[in-house]
Amino acid sequence: MLRKNNILRFKTIESTNNFLKENYEKVENGTVVVADIQTKGRGRLGRTWVSKKGGLWFSILIKKDIKKPSFYTKLSSISIISILKRLKINAKIKWPNDIYVNSKKLSGILTEAVTVNNNIKCIIIGIGINVNNETPENGVSLSNLLKERLSLDFLLEQFIKEFNKNYYHYRNLPFLLNLKWKKNLTFRKRNFVNGYKILKIKPEYLIVKKGKITLKINSIHKLEKER
Ligand code: BTN
Repeated sequence: MLRKNNILRFKTIESTNNFLKENYEKVENGTVVVADIQTKGRGRLGRTWVSKKGGLWFSILIKKDIKKPSFYTKLSSISIISILKRLKINAKIKWPNDIYVNSKKLSGILTEAVTVNNNIKCIIIGIGINVNNETPENGVSLSNLLKERLSLDFLLEQFIKEFNKNYYHYRNLPFLLNLKWKKNLTFRKRNFVNGYKILKIKPEYLIVKKGKITLKINSIHKLEKER
């Protein structure tokens, strides 16, 4: 799937997701694009993702055997959780796809699909991990947690290994991946968030209820149209 020798490295780039969106036709399946600094890093829901030097900012291109975007988001989050476990960090997934440690955000995932005339051409999985960088106030970095700096190359290599392992394990067993993902969520079914009881948790939406009000909250895997 992903290969250590299939990595494109940039010092500064607008956004690794944007790079793949513009170049997916020329770039091989499984390519990883990583940048030291992103000048226009993007988060979910059109938010800006501050990407200063010291963090691990990368994107993965999937062009073959394309599955649902949520499959890759879940695969990536459980891969990050396993690596963190090895570093003795207990992290959880905050629905739908943020990685939190002690109520602070350590990592975010932005999975996007490029479509042409409603046909999915590729999936781009964008991952940001706070490593040695300064973080916004609600964030935390690995160096904060471990009290030492970590090698970004080492971390990316670990991610590639873990992602591949999980990919081959779960590629035909999406329901098992879903179970694993659910086990690692910060809140579970029947928990309360802001006074709302969680009735259903899906990667794509959440159903919550307070009194007579039932709400469906979408996670929005935005499909970008091109051409
Ligand atoms: C979020 O939590 O809202 C998702 C953040 C995703 C950030 C990563 S950093 C690498 C890739 N390139 C981007 O512009 N965004 C993603």
